Amino acid sequence: MKISARTQVLFLLLVLFDLYGLLRADLIADTCQKTFYPGICVSTLRSNPRSAGADVAGLAHIVFDTALPKANSTLNLVNELYAKALKAKEKSFFEYLSNCLNQYEEAVSSLNGCTEYLGSDNFGTVLRATQAVSYVLICEKEFIELRPIGGRASPITAQNNAVEQLVSIALGIVKSLGCNQPICSFS
Ligand SMILES: *[C@@H]1O[C@H](CO)[C@@H](O)[C@H](O)[C@H]1NC(C)=O
Repeated sequence: MKISARTQVLFLLLVLFDLYGLLRADLIADTCQKTFYPGICVSTLRSNPRSAGADVAGLAHIVFDTALPKANSTLNLVNELYAKALKAKEKSFFEYLSNCLNQYEEAVSSLNGCTEYLGSDNFGTVLRATQAVSYVLICEKEFIELRPIGGRASPITAQNNAVEQLVSIALGIVKSLGCNQPICSFS
């Protein structure tokens, strides 16, 4: 049986396209393997159509772009919880929430500047992302470690974890690009 040239070309294109898909899949998997949360990293990137043509810096950008609105919506949530606790005169609770609010304002502002230098100043990005993670961790610890007897548990553990995970993933990806500083040699 003779296969027409056209069929052969079509077949070749299909193979190449498939191969390209496999290579892309590997870039996401390989990149995510270098982060603390490979599973969340892969699912975050695969669910975003922008990942298709992205290089490693682009993948970090996508994760930052996912983390920022999540951090900002947590900031808005903390604001609401704080206003409620203040109105209800829940003294230590609104104090913790007020501290959390400050932390989240800082975290959102650090994250806001993260992608600006991505690719040109990875060290600046790493510093900002590292700060953002520590603000979120401090917010969560306000409740766990400073909670007095009869106090309240953190009402935003799930949100804090989600933000911490996304920013840590983005941080891991940027560090894998290198930044000519010792901080990028450790993960
Ligand atoms: C955060 O959310 C507020 C309220 O929805 C919005 O006005 C603001 O632009 C957002 N900021 C960022 C950095 O996304």
